[in-house]
Amino acid sequence: MEYIVASQGALLAGAPLADLRRRLPLSPPPPPPSIRIQNRLYSISSLPLKDRPVRRCGASLASNYTQTSEIVDLDWDNLGFGIVQTDYMYIAKCGTDGNFSEGEMVPFGPIALNPSSGVLNYGQGLFEGLKAYRKPDGSILLFRPEENALRMRTGAERMCMPAPSVEQFVDAVKQTVLANKRWVPPSGKGSLYLRPLLMGSGAVLGLAPAPEYTFIIFVSPVGNYFKEGLAPINLIVEDKFHRATPGGTGGVKTIGNYASVLMAQKIAKEKGYSDVLYLDAVHKKYLEEVSSCNIFVIKGNVISTPAIKGTILPGITRKSIIDVALSKGFQVEERLVSVDELLDADEVFCTGTAVVVSPVGSITYQGKSDFTLQGGIRAPRRWRRGPAAVYFTDESPDG
Ligand code: COI
Repeated sequence: MEYIVASQGALLAGAPLADLRRRLPLSPPPPPPSIRIQNRLYSISSLPLKDRPVRRCGASLASNYTQTSEIVDLDWDNLGFGIVQTDYMYIAKCGTDGNFSEGEMVPFGPIALNPSSGVLNYGQGLFEGLKAYRKPDGSILLFRPEENALRMRTGAERMCMPAPSVEQFVDAVKQTVLANKRWVPPSGKGSLYLRPLLMGSGAVLGLAPAPEYTFIIFVSPVGNYFKEGLAPINLIVEDKFHRATPGGTGGVKTIGNYASVLMAQKIAKEKGYSDVLYLDAVHKKYLEEVSSCNIFVIKGNVISTPAIKGTILPGITRKSIIDVALSKGFQVEERLVSVDELLDADEVFCTGTAVVVSPVGSITYQGKSDFTLQGGIRAPRRWRRGPAAVYFTDESPDG
C-alpha cells in the first residue's frame, strides 16, 4: 500500500506564466552558464555533464521562457546537496511600515549589503527550506509551501522582524520555481531545493531591530543530503555542546541556530559520523534534534519523537510523517524521549526537508562501545524515499 505525501503539495502546473512574465524584469539576461557547486567554480567543460554542456539561457527573457520546458543537461545522478548556480532569484524589500514591496525576479548573484546591517551585526535573519519535485508527467509539485510561510511568520515574530504574508510567500515560491523551471531535476532524480531568506538588511549600530528587511528566495537542484545517500547514517550523541536552551531561539529557523552547531558537527565529521544528535541543555538526557533534522524512535507499534517545546524545530516533514504514521495505525507519542530509549529501540530515523527520511544505522553515546548501537538499530524497513516524494510503503526496500 502506498501513500504519497507529496500529493498534499501544491500543483504548479498551469500557473499563470503570462502573468509571471509580466512581473519579471526584461533585463539583464541570465548569467553565463558557469556553475558553482559547493563553493567551487567549475567551467562547464569540467562538469560531469551528460553529452553536451548546459544549454545557454536565452539572451532575452522571452526566449528564456520558451526554453523552460527543457531540462538542464546536468549529471542528475550525482547531484548531492551543494549549491548549483541557477538562473533567477526572487527579491522583495520591506521598510519601517512593515509592508513588503511587490517582489521581482532578478538574475541569481551576489547582493549588496550594508556592513552595518542587522543580519551581519546581530544575526537578525531567518531561513526556510522547501522542495519542488517534477512528476513523471512533467508537472511540478511543491511540498506544503504554506507551512513554510507560516513557520517563517512565527520565527519573524520571535526575531522582531516583519514577514511576508502567506500569500506573498507562496506566490514568490511559485514565481521562483517557474523562473528556474529548467533546473527542476527529472522525475525521480532529486528535487529543486528552495531557500527563502528573511534578513534585517537595514543599517543599525546600537542593538535594535533593523529599519529595513529583505526577503530573498534562491534555488538549487539537489540530491541526497548525506553522503551515505539512502544508506543508514551514523550519529553521535553530543553531551557537551548544546544547540538550544529553554527560552532561546531553538524553536525557530534563525540563522544563528545553524552557526552554533558547526563546531560539534565538524568534530563529529572528523571522527567519521554523519551528524550530531543533541540532548536537552537542562537535564542532558532527553533527545532534542540532529543538526539538520528531527528524530523519531520506533518501538513496536509506537513511534516517539521529542515534543515541540521551544528548543527544537517544528519540522514540516516531521509533521507530515506524524500524520502519515497515525493514518497507518501507528501510535505516535510527542514527549520527552530519553537517550536511554535508543538502546531499546527497534528503529530510528530522521526527518527534514533536506534529509527527507533518513534511516539511522548507528548511534554512539559517550564513546562507550556498548552504547554504540551498530546493528542494534535497524534501518527502517517500512519507510523509504521514493523518486519524487516521501513514500510510505509496506514493502521492504531490499525486497
Ligand atoms: C532543511 O532541511 O531545509 C534545512 O534547513 C536544514 C539545513 C541544515 C540544510
